[in-house]
Amino acid sequence: MKVDVLLGLQWGDEGKGKIVDVLSPGYDIIARFQGGPNAGHTIENQGVKFILHTIPSGILNSNTTNIIGNGVIIDPYILDGEINLLNEKAGVDVFRNLLVSRRSHLILPTHRLLDAVYESAKGTTKIGSTLKGIGPTYTDKTARNGIRIGDLTSPHFYQKYQDLKNKHLQIAASYSIDIQTIQIEGKPFADYEALWMQSITTLKQLQVIDCEYYIQRALWNGEKVLAEGAQGSLLDVDYGSYPYVTSSNTIAPAVCIGLGVPASAVDKVFGVFKAYCTRVGNGPFPTELTDDMGKFLRKEGNEYGSTTGRPRRCGWLDIPALRYSVMLNGVTHLFLTKTDVLNQLETIQVCDKYNLGGEEIEDFPYDYSEVSPIYIRRKGWNRSLANVSCKGEFPPELDDYIHLIETRVGIPIVLVSTGPDRHQTVLVRPIR
Ligand code: GDP
Ligand code: IMO
Ligand code: MG
Repeated sequence: MKVDVLLGLQWGDEGKGKIVDVLSPGYDIIARFQGGPNAGHTIENQGVKFILHTIPSGILNSNTTNIIGNGVIIDPYILDGEINLLNEKAGVDVFRNLLVSRRSHLILPTHRLLDAVYESAKGTTKIGSTLKGIGPTYTDKTARNGIRIGDLTSPHFYQKYQDLKNKHLQIAASYSIDIQTIQIEGKPFADYEALWMQSITTLKQLQVIDCEYYIQRALWNGEKVLAEGAQGSLLDVDYGSYPYVTSSNTIAPAVCIGLGVPASAVDKVFGVFKAYCTRVGNGPFPTELTDDMGKFLRKEGNEYGSTTGRPRRCGWLDIPALRYSVMLNGVTHLFLTKTDVLNQLETIQVCDKYNLGGEEIEDFPYDYSEVSPIYIRRKGWNRSLANVSCKGEFPPELDDYIHLIETRVGIPIVLVSTGPDRHQTVLVRPIR
């Protein structure tokens, strides 16, 4: 067996959580391979809603094993909160079917402190980070200073913690920022640190694995694995709109590193994208709509960050950027979400090319902040999709929109999402 991959093709929040939840009955294992609690993956089932930050979105399916891979970074406090919420709201015993890689790195309270210090020091050029400590934790990982899940049982754990914390405090002191004013999760640092330490106890109760052996043995035994992406391809640290990106690789090759599987083990690559674009945080966004249409998309799509609650910036679909993401990931199947958000529109615009210094281009350029969009227009379907349950019931204008995207991008759209609930999902073609 091989690993299928599902990931976001834009700037995150494409609806990955919902789709993983829908697909999870067809898989034995769902595994997160990178990112941390900067992610917020929403699952909705008959009015009950969960936002997962660290735990894979297969957790509501009791037959699925969920793995937090070695490429993921973990904040024990946030993970503890997720575990409790799943238990209280849905009676899920997370300890039964959640496994954590020994090699995953820990996000320390001082990583979050440093994130806040760095952002504040950047002033007007700040990234718009979720302030979950992502950048500083991945920095420590690659600088070989990090603390891993496997260190939790070491007699030297607390010494390691203190040493790294002191290092961080020294760095923070070199900035002209009063760190006493920085709050984490709305709490003074010392209070948050005490809660973080308590949640280490929960983390120690989780089943720890050697992810690389576990997943490869599962594949040899014929089990089906789905790797769940976080963030989006345009937030990739190498290929995204740098420096306005996250601090990890978010694209398909990161599955190999983040789970310990060879490139030859990857099979299908499912690329999820919205019928329009959103971006939360700073950075270039050529198709952004700052007018009433942007406000309309935010309201209709309920575009507020799942992790931070910040309003998401909204704009028209960007085809060259989508084609770039499809190319980087080797997408084999496209999943289109949030079509219902466009229901009331008489006209839909799509960015088909860019203008860069008077020249028309179709590629995603190094100078993404310098391009302006060249739009084409399409007639909207201007009616509800609430009762649509199969492709045959799609309005012709939606068929036309799908056809336009498929033609421009060169990959078929196999699944269309028409609402946040599990059941608001139309399989257009069998996934083979
Ligand atoms: P993720 O980070 O990719 O998992 O996406 P988020 O959960 O952050 O954001 C997607 C939001 O859109 C969530 O509130 C979902 O419940 C919601 N959603 C997902 N698919 C659809 C859809 O087809 N239509 C509508 N209206 N909402 C959707
Ligand atoms: P999911 O998995 C949307 C954005 C932040 C910021 C930039 C860097 O839910 O799609 P970081 O906290 O990583 O230092 O922030 O990346 N960002 C996301 N935006 N969805 C996400 O995850 C994101 N994860 C990070 O808003 O602009
Ligand atoms: Mg999200």
